Amino acid sequence: MSKIIVITGATSGIGAALVERFVARNDQVFAVGRSAERLEALHASLGHVSNLKTFLADFSRLSEIDALANALLQAAPEGLDVLINNAAVVPSSKRFSHDGIELQLQVNHLAVVQLTHALLEALIQRQGMVITTSSDAHKGGRFHVRDIQKNPRYGVFRTYAKTKLYNLMFSAYLKDAYGDKLHVYAVHPGVVKTDLGAKDSSAFMQKVWHFFTKKAAAPSSVPPTYEMLVDQKEPLEALYYAHQKPLNHLSVVTDKEKQTLLMEASLELLKMPKFGA
Ligand SMILES: NC(=O)c1ccc[n+]([C@@H]2O[C@H](COP(=O)([O-])OP(=O)(O)OC[C@H]3O[C@@H](n4cnc5c(N)ncnc54)[C@H](OP(=O)(O)O)[C@@H]3O)[C@@H](O)[C@H]2O)c1
Repeated sequence: MSKIIVITGATSGIGAALVERFVARNDQVFAVGRSAERLEALHASLGHVSNLKTFLADFSRLSEIDALANALLQAAPEGLDVLINNAAVVPSSKRFSHDGIELQLQVNHLAVVQLTHALLEALIQRQGMVITTSSDAHKGGRFHVRDIQKNPRYGVFRTYAKTKLYNLMFSAYLKDAYGDKLHVYAVHPGVVKTDLGAKDSSAFMQKVWHFFTKKAAAPSSVPPTYEMLVDQKEPLEALYYAHQKPLNHLSVVTDKEKQTLLMEASLELLKMPKFGA
């Protein structure tokens, strides 16, 4: 049966491949991007099909995430089936969001928490699913709550690894708290040939990224794992998948004490009293 699927980071790379695949299956796709031009180009590339709607929101402004959630809820008063949290950024150096928060922390992690929170009831309404694109790069991340508050020693890739670890820790938290009402998964897409590490980057960083992804898989190789999850009728036991199979993650992901610290620090930055209703 056709599903209503929200996909963030939809205008390039893995997100665009997911949009293309789910549109082709006749699902109703709500594609979220930060650029009106790139959203229009995505729509045009798929022939302005009626089962694709586009939504504009820049996750480096937290206020735009609330406005996005309202627009999505208005577009689907009957509820949502799937939220795919896929957007992420890897800047070339330390940057801050419009809210004064380190950019990767905000776009890659806090935006995931805020958008999931805002759409939670609509997802629960349809026994829905939350899939977050994490990465095996999370294995290079260590959890220290001080990093969320101040992030004193900064490294672009170290910070990226941490945000991908937070994606998994948040997914594990969500599964524990809402697993009876929602399916919750995280995905490692593999090493994929996209421009993730070459956007808004120095020439050197672009070279490093292109070298690193030279022999990587095409974005079109990624959708089968997401399709396999979206098509499950009963929740699968494992949290984390790659190439349609469960994958091991760091043990800290399911450490309840650390999950609580992560959620408390995240909610404080988001100025949210609590997660969920
Ligand atoms: N490529 C890999 O090898 C790899 C490996 C493991 C995990 N991943 C994960 O896969 C996901 C997709 O990455 P990708 O490789 O497909 O790279 P990508 O093409 O750069 O996709 C990232 C998406 O996030 C969007 N985005 C960036 N900043 C944003 C903001 N401020 N507000 C809203 N959206 C924003 C980008 O929008 P624009 O189109 O406007 O730039 C883009 O659509 C990410 O979560 C990444 O961590 C990738």
